[in-house]
Amino acid sequence: MENRTLLYEGKAKKIFATENPDHVLVYFKDDATAFNAQKKGSFERKGELNNKITSLIFNYLEKKGIPTHLVEQVSDLEQIVRRVDIIPLEMVVRNYAAGSMAQRLGVEEGTKSPVVIFDLCYKKDELGDPLINDHHAVFLGAATYEELKELYAIADKVNSLLIQLFDKIGIILVDFKIELGKLPSGEIILADEISPDTCRLWDKETMKKLDKDRFRRDLGSVTEAYVEIYERLKSKLEA
Ligand code: TMP
Repeated sequence: MENRTLLYEGKAKKIFATENPDHVLVYFKDDATAFNAQKKGSFERKGELNNKITSLIFNYLEKKGIPTHLVEQVSDLEQIVRRVDIIPLEMVVRNYAAGSMAQRLGVEEGTKSPVVIFDLCYKKDELGDPLINDHHAVFLGAATYEELKELYAIADKVNSLLIQLFDKIGIILVDFKIELGKLPSGEIILADEISPDTCRLWDKETMKKLDKDRFRRDLGSVTEAYVEIYERLKSKLEA
C-alpha cells in the first residue's frame, strides 16, 4: 500500500489514486459501524468478503445491462473502479418492512410490501443521512428531477435482478441501499458496493438473518453469515 495517494477514507473503505486518472483503487476495511457510527467494531474477513461479494454482484448486474463502476477485483481486499462523482444520495429499496421503516411506521418487521418502496436519504454524516424526498434532493442540488427518474429506474431494475438472483440461492432480499455516481460524460452508473453490509438478506427456509443486522443487533456469527452469502453466490455465479 506504500506510496499510494489516499484520496478519501470512509467508514468501511479507503480510496486511492491509480496511475490511470479515470480509475481509483478501493480498499475494503474490516471496520464496521452502525447507527451513524454510534456503534463501532470490526469483524474477521469483512473487507475480503464484501470485496468479493460486491465483485460477484456487480459483474452479474453488468452482464444484465446495468452499468457499474467496477473495472476489476485485483486482490482479496481491493478493486479497481471507474472514477465517478458520487451523487450524495442513498437510494434504499424495500420489498419487506424492516429496520428503520418498520420502526418509523410501527409495522412488524418482515411484513411484505405489495409495492416496491424507495427511500431517498441525503448522504451527510453530520446529519445522520436524513430521509428526504425528491424535492429536497433537487433543492439541495444533489440531483435534477430527470436524474432522479433515472436513479429510480436503475434502482428498480437492480431490485428485480437481485430478487431473482438471491431467490435462486435460497435468500429473500428484504431491502438494500445503493449509491450512484456520475461519469464526466454525465452518465449515471452504479457505484459503492452491494454486500451484506448494504442489504438485508434472510434465509428463505429458516428466516435467519445473513447480513449486517447480525452486527447491528449483536446476534453473533457475523463472519459466518457473510461467508454463507459469498459461498452461495459463488456457486451460483461461477458455476
Ligand atoms: P434501514 O432500515 O436502516 O433504513 O436500512 C435499509 C437498508 O439500507 C438496509 O439493507 C441497510 C442499508 N443501509 C446501508 O447500506 N447504509 C446505511 O447507512 C443505512 C442506514 C442502511
